[in-house]
Amino acid sequence: ANKQGDVDVQTINQLDALRQHISALRDAKRRVALVPTMGALHDGHMALVAEARRHADAVVVSIFVNPTQFGANEDLDAYPRTMERDADLLRAAGVDILWAPHATIVYPPGFATEVHVAGPSKGYCGAARPGHFDGVALVVAKLFNQVQPDVALFGEKDFQQLAVIRQMARDLDFALDILGVPIVRNADGLALSSRNAYLTAEERAAALALPVALAQAAAQIRAGDDVAQTLAQASADILAAGFARVEYFALADAVTLDELQHFDGRPARLLVAAKMGKTRLIDNLAI
Ligand code: PAF
Repeated sequence: ANKQGDVDVQTINQLDALRQHISALRDAKRRVALVPTMGALHDGHMALVAEARRHADAVVVSIFVNPTQFGANEDLDAYPRTMERDADLLRAAGVDILWAPHATIVYPPGFATEVHVAGPSKGYCGAARPGHFDGVALVVAKLFNQVQPDVALFGEKDFQQLAVIRQMARDLDFALDILGVPIVRNADGLALSSRNAYLTAEERAAALALPVALAQAAAQIRAGDDVAQTLAQASADILAAGFARVEYFALADAVTLDELQHFDGRPARLLVAAKMGKTRLIDNLAI
């Protein structure tokens, strides 16, 4: 127990130790939740942890900056790593196990397996970041097998990632529930992201144009405005506000992620990715 008398979070970095802990939980018939993360925890992650506690008796959080989901020119080395602070936050939130394996445990020498989920990984971030969702699917499949959770929680912030993981779990018969948790936003509307740490104060202020454009486009599409025209205007608005490039600004079916030219009242999602300076920001909103 720590100073507050709480049960301490167990930090585990060897697979056999993890398996022992998990089988003890299973023997005690405790329902296990997994929250996969890459660390640099913020309130968005902590909302996943809080939701996990509502769905399980024991919560496992993984922290692993997964090299296979970063492209050659992406920010793997620069990605924020704040392990001590993260462990403190998880301890305070009553997390049972922090699974923090080293890369050589996850990908030992000679590792040769790939996982490719077609369907929802096509387009959007899948087009902009070739191989990204293969790396995500691979590590999440491994985490599911390592932790064997009853339920796993993912943020809706990475909406396409959530769709890819749901598809993989269905296709590969993973026997667990997958829960999507709504985006957590700053008071001013910017979606929380570990990558917001890269923004200068000026960029951070200009980045607010993203949630503003999303909300405005959503209102217009709901009101029956032309989808293509609305999205073109939304893209122009965020470029005018200081974004360097719009990778995509699209309306998609909320389940298949097929791009929609018209809104017919079925669940749909606005998806956007744009570059503020060198930082790539993504956001999305339900229609
Ligand atoms: O969303 C993330 O932080 C990562 O993509 C995940 C799901 C932990 C896999 O590395």
